Amino acid sequence: MNVHATALADAHLPDEQTSAFARDAIDDLSQHPKRLSPKYFYDATGSELFEAITRLPEYYPTRTELSILRDRGTEIASIIAKGAALVEFGAGATTKVRLLLKNCDFGAYVPVDISGDFLNAQADGLGKDFPSLHIYPVAADFTAPFALPGAIADMPKVGFFPGSTLGNFEPHEACAFLRSARSILGRGAQMIIGVDLEKDERVLHDAYNDSAGVTARFNLNVLARINRELGGNFELSAFTHRAIYNRERHRIEMHLISKKTQTVRMLGTSFSFRAGETIHTENSYKYSLERFAALARVSGWKPRTSWTDPAGMFSVHALVTSG
Ligand code: AVI
Repeated sequence: MNVHATALADAHLPDEQTSAFARDAIDDLSQHPKRLSPKYFYDATGSELFEAITRLPEYYPTRTELSILRDRGTEIASIIAKGAALVEFGAGATTKVRLLLKNCDFGAYVPVDISGDFLNAQADGLGKDFPSLHIYPVAADFTAPFALPGAIADMPKVGFFPGSTLGNFEPHEACAFLRSARSILGRGAQMIIGVDLEKDERVLHDAYNDSAGVTARFNLNVLARINRELGGNFELSAFTHRAIYNRERHRIEMHLISKKTQTVRMLGTSFSFRAGETIHTENSYKYSLERFAALARVSGWKPRTSWTDPAGMFSVHALVTSG
């Protein structure tokens, strides 16, 4: 056992999720450059901060995607198979799926999310507003293979992956996700997916460096979470949020920069920081319509239609399985 594994074994963490967080945090902070996975942003505080981000004047993706789903509702409905089962990968706020459910004739809705409690609360709310819709929540990690409920076996399948969450995956992970979604949904399935587009760098910069500092709090919350759940002693005021656009790699990068030389401890392990050293916490890839279509093709999908808002800020794509 190496030193880190011994420290972890002695730590008596409350559950498997916290142990996985501990393993990943220790591994990732031991890398050069240091990093942390964006999946750990979303504890209760992080999820609330993300909801607040979606309402910021500078953060255009959420309201732009909603406007596309609203304005193109009839066109979207016209290509969706009648009586299909809608399978949503990751279940956040229900605003977007409500627009699809209102406009299209779905026979069933299958929200898939790692948090069973969250799913059940979401299903209850939707069940009240769409009383004739059959809802079959699936508690699973949607990035790994999972089984669909038997009740929808004979229905056509439509996957739904809004929010440009695909942009937070590395390109090879995005490809792996699309391939996995194809094999879960099966031959003949359709997919509706939201993808953020490349645009003026100033607009991108402002969306991830908002003037109210909410994105900074969202980014720093991952250190607060390490303090809360893993007994870390990060001094939050000794790190600063920075988001930059990496033009060569078509991505916004979020970083936490150490303001001084310092040592932080967590679960018996020390991590030293130089002044100006970064922890890379997130990538948010931006696509052109062509680059996304190419990614879909190599991942087993055929692009059917895409819609954008009039300013070309965001895109929604309809895909069908190829072959
Ligand atoms: C969830 N995801 C699509 C957001 C994004 O824009 O990449 C997460 C986010 N990070 C900072 N602001 C929002």
